[in-house]
Amino acid sequence: MEPIIYRRARPTDARAIVQLINHYSAKGVMLPRPYAQVVEKIRDFVVATEERSGVLKGIVALHVVGEDLAEIRSLAVEEASQGKGFGRKMLEVCLKDAKELQLQRVFALTYQTDFFTKLGFSKVEKLTLPQKIWGDCVHCAKFSDCDEIAMLLNLDKS
Ligand SMILES: CC(C)(COP(=O)(O)OP(=O)(O)OC[C@H]1O[C@@H](n2cnc3c(N)ncnc32)[C@H](O)[C@@H]1OP(=O)(O)O)[C@@H](O)C(=O)NCCC(=O)NCCS
Repeated sequence: MEPIIYRRARPTDARAIVQLINHYSAKGVMLPRPYAQVVEKIRDFVVATEERSGVLKGIVALHVVGEDLAEIRSLAVEEASQGKGFGRKMLEVCLKDAKELQLQRVFALTYQTDFFTKLGFSKVEKLTLPQKIWGDCVHCAKFSDCDEIAMLLNLDKS
C-alpha cells in the first residue's frame, strides 16, 4: 500500500473533496456541499492522500460553532479504502486541532454511531447542542424529521 499522509486541505483539493461528498450524498449518507462552500471553508478540512500520487483517500472538516464547541463534518473515506484506519487517523488530527484551539467539546451528527463510539464519543440529545440546532440545522432540508444521531466528545476528558 502507498504511504498515506494526513494534512490540511488546500483550495486545489476542493474539487476532489466535492466529488467524494457527492458520491456519499447521492447514497443519502452525507449532506451535499456546493463547491463554493467547500472552497470557502477549505481551512476546516483535513485530507488523507497518497503520498506520491496525491490521490485523495479521505476527508473530514472541523467547523467551529461556538467559543467552546466545534462540529465534525463531511467525514468520508473512499469505499475501497475503508477499514484501514484512515477515518480514525483523520479524526485524531481534527481532535488535536480542536485541543490546540482550546475547544472543550466536539460533536457530530451522524448515522455512524459505532465508529464515533470507538473514538470516545457518546450519544447526546440534539437539543443539548443549541448553537448547532438553531444555527445550521434550521436551514437544512431534513430539519423537521432529522434522523441523524448527535455524538459528543468532551476534550478535557479524552
Ligand atoms: C465512517 C467512515 C468515515 C469510517 O472510516 P474508516 O477509515 O473506514 O474507519 P477506520 O478504519 O478508521 O475505523 C476505525 C474504527 O472504527 C470501526 N468502524 C469503522 N466504520 C465502522 C462502522 N460503520 N461500524 C462499526 N465500526 C466501524 C473500525 O472497525 C475501527 O475499529 P478498530 O479500531 O477497533 O479496528 C467510513 O466508513 C465512511 O466514509 N463511510 C461513508 C460516509 C459516512 O457515512 N460518513 C460519516 C458522516 S458523519
